[in-house]
Amino acid sequence: IPVAAVIPAAGRGVRLGPGAPKALRTLNGTPMLIHAVRALAASRHVALVIVVAPPDGAAEVKSLLDAHALPDRTDFLVVPGGDSRQESVRLGLDALPPEYGVVLVHDAARPLVPVDTVDGVIEAVREGAPAVVPALPLADTVKEVEPAAVHGDPEPVVATPERARLRAVQTPQGFDRATLVRAHETVTEDVTDDASMVERLGLRVVTVPGHEEAFKVTRPLDLVLAEAVLARRRL
Ligand code: C5P
Repeated sequence: IPVAAVIPAAGRGVRLGPGAPKALRTLNGTPMLIHAVRALAASRHVALVIVVAPPDGAAEVKSLLDAHALPDRTDFLVVPGGDSRQESVRLGLDALPPEYGVVLVHDAARPLVPVDTVDGVIEAVREGAPAVVPALPLADTVKEVEPAAVHGDPEPVVATPERARLRAVQTPQGFDRATLVRAHETVTEDVTDDASMVERLGLRVVTVPGHEEAFKVTRPLDLVLAEAVLARRRL
């Protein structure tokens, strides 16, 4: 079953501070999006990568892809994104040719995911799981709170879920194509990942091992960490 990847890259990245859209910020001189595209195209199973660009930035993203060396055996498409991550993913799915039966959705903001993680997700979908997420145990204890109306005010703790049962999930998340399309047609509530839409359909979502280097570049410190990881890889 041919595998395609959709990379939502239309976010502004406000938490990273002022500047270009997050996916176009550079890590060691190369845009984060290019790192992410290469990370997915590094899997020999991924035949097509669809990049969902900022709505006004599709042309810029196309020329970026043309300007960087990418594997010949992979096809690339660029489509304009939407106002939410969810809408951007849906617009990417709309552009998916019929032959692709497995779809990965991968954040441009996770530029350093290792190929073994990508392949682990693909393998689990090919073995029959309708939805697969890479996951890691948590270092921090997590509290549920009653969010304060004013940022910075003390927040009452409501519960402490047992840490050993919690996982932080990453991308790429992998799906049987028909399942993901149905999830996007059916679920209208706001979600923060694609697998949760499949959960809402009542279908089984499973985890495979994630990787520390698949962390999401969100805040300024993450840029420092990402460049350090790249420097270590060059050794
Ligand atoms: O905001 P968050 O960190 O959850 O964004 C995750 C990914 O979704 C990023 O790669 C971002 O570019 C993408 N995104 C998008 N369209 C939006 C918002 C976010 O493609 N409207």
